[in-house]
Amino acid sequence: MIDMNVYKKNVEETVSFLQGKIKRPPAVVIILGTGLGGLIDSIEVEALLPYEEIPHFPRSTVPGHHGNLIFGTLRNRDVVVLQGRFHYYEGYSTRELTFPLRTLSLLGADTLVVTNAAGGLDPNYRPGTIMVIRDHLNLIGENPLRGANIDDWGPRFPDLSEPYDKKLIDATLQCAEKLHMTNVITGVYVAIPGPSLETPAETRFLRAAGADAVGMSSVPEVIVARHAAMRVLGLSAVANFNDPDNFAPILLDDIIRAAEEIEPALQELIKEVLKVL
Ligand code: HPA
Repeated sequence: MIDMNVYKKNVEETVSFLQGKIKRPPAVVIILGTGLGGLIDSIEVEALLPYEEIPHFPRSTVPGHHGNLIFGTLRNRDVVVLQGRFHYYEGYSTRELTFPLRTLSLLGADTLVVTNAAGGLDPNYRPGTIMVIRDHLNLIGENPLRGANIDDWGPRFPDLSEPYDKKLIDATLQCAEKLHMTNVITGVYVAIPGPSLETPAETRFLRAAGADAVGMSSVPEVIVARHAAMRVLGLSAVANFNDPDNFAPILLDDIIRAAEEIEPALQELIKEVLKVL
């Protein structure tokens, strides 16, 4: 069983460490998913900290994922970017992999923008679609809040009736329209544990369960963000399309390449949204 006294002490130590590195607390946390690390080129960097140099931080082990925590400004907003995230399939518990987000919420951030590369399940999606996450299914089989609750951090039974902020979703759709992006739609994201990709039968099952896109991340972070009363915006770059009746191999290299192709549009969208946040 996880010792939450130790976890809390570690989080507090990391918060103090990070406070010593920055002048102002960040307002917005941005988590960059597979193949989506390039947004940092637009950031006026105040501090760049490799994960290895941050006490108690997990380490990124996945190709396509860097491992840097970057504080700075983007479109005049104080942001902190997780360039590279942690996944359940790497062996981390969801409690462990959400350690950075918990730390950043306690540092003062009140908004989370979470991005990922995902597989499309809605037959209308094509690679290149940007899905604004409207709701999610947690099929990872673990909840990052399991175990003793720290009441100072949030309620024992956090409400998830509106996991993704409706105002942020609407603002994002408006920004997409303004930017003449025709491939931005809302949908339901399902998180699976991975690392194996879905079988055709699983793909059929996930679609029948109401999901529009599938991936192996984001949901644990969103649960912790909502526990911490942060506003959440979730964006999926639909990198591949999984048709159970015409199933093609799903290959990581293809996913990374497709995500990189979507990235410029996703970056533009995030920057535009930051202006109106
Ligand atoms: N399945 C699961 N995770 C993914 C996929 C997929 O098809 N594409 C990108 N991440």
